[in-house]
Amino acid sequence: MPADGDLTEAATVLRTGGLVAFPTETVYGLGANALDARAAARIFEAKQRPSFDPLITHLADAADLEALVGSVPPAVAALADRFWPGPLTLIVDRPDAIPPIVTSGLATMAVRVPDNEYARRLIAAAGVPVAAPSANRFGQLSPTRAEHVVRGLGAAVEVVLDGGPARCGIESTIVDARGDRPVVLRLGALPVEEVEKVTGPVTVRLGNSGQPVAPGTLAAHYAPRTPLRLLAAGESAAGGGPRRGYLAFRDRPAQSWAAVEVLSASGDLTEAAARLFEALHRLDAAGVTEIVAEPVPETGVGRAVNDRLRRAAATWQPAG
Ligand code: TXA
Ligand code: MG
Repeated sequence: MPADGDLTEAATVLRTGGLVAFPTETVYGLGANALDARAAARIFEAKQRPSFDPLITHLADAADLEALVGSVPPAVAALADRFWPGPLTLIVDRPDAIPPIVTSGLATMAVRVPDNEYARRLIAAAGVPVAAPSANRFGQLSPTRAEHVVRGLGAAVEVVLDGGPARCGIESTIVDARGDRPVVLRLGALPVEEVEKVTGPVTVRLGNSGQPVAPGTLAAHYAPRTPLRLLAAGESAAGGGPRRGYLAFRDRPAQSWAAVEVLSASGDLTEAAARLFEALHRLDAAGVTEIVAEPVPETGVGRAVNDRLRRAAATWQPAG
């Protein structure tokens, strides 16, 4: 766990234009001073991220939102009030203080307050809003542990703060609640059902094509290096074999596989989400030639888990 001195030093690195990878409750983030266009540009470079993919700005406290962007529509305020700090990203108008590179030129900005003590202390100590995408190379598996960041980004980052495994293990839910009916732009750790308890019915509009409103929603994304095939619900995989790995929801498969990961032996979707990327990182490291994955029940955070699996599988299939 980061000591106070490490946090202070990391805050200085952020304030002076450097990159700091830090834990959040969802996945590890790769942070830069969001007020500094040059620092933000370094994020795109380190991640090899296309410039059309906007960043999420992170704040230490919900009370900091108004100071940065002024007043927000009532539904946005209600969601921030209910779920921050937490795994919910909200869309607001981009304030002048935030350079356009952070939002890839969009007139809107994505913003959230992470529910992780180190993240919030770091951002507070830096004294600036922190732009942070997930701390992985573009298109690859998101990091849920500091060692994933070191393995994936290594020398491109000045500081990696180790806060242990990420609690949620899957990215934040992105909601645009500025209009009459809120729109979910990315399924994530906060279930849609929870959002609806505050706002009433929402529309789920996940981008799917090359039109990246939220590139976490590109059809192919979140991919392991090993080809991944997603089974249909209820489908059982034919044969294991010595070179294939298996990602199960709750029950170990009958056949023998070269490597097996079970997401939650008790069938708990929150646990399954928390373990998803870690299990995929492990299967990737197991040296198998194919990963076969079971979908999880399509409810609550299970929807976000299946979404990630579909996009991982899409990377390995010809577009149809
Ligand atoms: O849980 C998370 O949200 C993590 C942690 C580090 O906070 N961050 C994360 O960032 O997942 P990233 O860059 O991997 O995904 C950010 C997503 C992208 O798909 C981006 O397109 C979308 O947020 N986004 C950012 N600004 C947006 C905007 N103005 N309108 C719509 N989508 C936006
Ligand atoms: Mg990402």
